[in-house]
Amino acid sequence: MKILAVSDTEDKVLESALENYSDRFKDINYIFSCGDLPKKYLEYITDASGKSLYFVSGNHFGMQLYAYASKRKIAKKLYLGKGMRLHSGGVDMHGRVEVLDGYIVAGFGGSMRYNPGFFQFEEAEMEKLVNKAKFEIIKRRVLDFLLFRKRKEIIVISHAPPQDIHDKDDRCHKGFKCFKKFLFNVKPVLWLHGHIHFEGQNNRQQTVLDNTLVVNVYSSKIINIDGKQVTVKPVCADKYCSVDPKTSRIDTVI
Ligand SMILES: [Fe+2]
Repeated sequence: MKILAVSDTEDKVLESALENYSDRFKDINYIFSCGDLPKKYLEYITDASGKSLYFVSGNHFGMQLYAYASKRKIAKKLYLGKGMRLHSGGVDMHGRVEVLDGYIVAGFGGSMRYNPGFFQFEEAEMEKLVNKAKFEIIKRRVLDFLLFRKRKEIIVISHAPPQDIHDKDDRCHKGFKCFKKFLFNVKPVLWLHGHIHFEGQNNRQQTVLDNTLVVNVYSSKIINIDGKQVTVKPVCADKYCSVDPKTSRIDTVI
């Protein structure tokens, strides 16, 4: 499965590549957005690539994605993790579990609560959604086992990172403790997150934790996944550009 992952900032390199080398995106299966992107940008990427969008909302621009619904309805859906469909066709993965091309995909939007705004969660609120997703995953795995189906690997898309992985000390950018617990419990092969902006070459962008590759998507990545094999590459605007090892590296193995 080949994924175009986007997050947090409108990437001019990606826009240029979509406009000039659209054939490079033909074999992309899905677009995953890890949040904090305006609706117009998501629609542009979806239209330009012609691929299906699966997204979680970040702590910014979320209201654009649900502009047609009342605040009360949004809050109810969002905090209970029922998910909502965009008018333009994207699938909201917040608090949901879907099967895509033989992978179980779970999604968690929002960030740690730091003010009274929407799309922010206390640790206990997020833990409820995480436990609900864990139950869904166990149900699907038991069903696969009973039906002699192949065990599916798990992919997680979230806006905030797991605690202590790529996160920062301030409340807004602190990762969720329950994400880390979920990672150790269900052992996803890949965890994509956003929310943490890349500031300089010393920031970690990829970390392996208990066999899960955790990737900070900011601002776009091309991801190839085949079973447990995952490769992550930046999007190149130039037809002949090579992959920069500094942005395709695995920084830390914990
Ligand atoms: Fe964010």
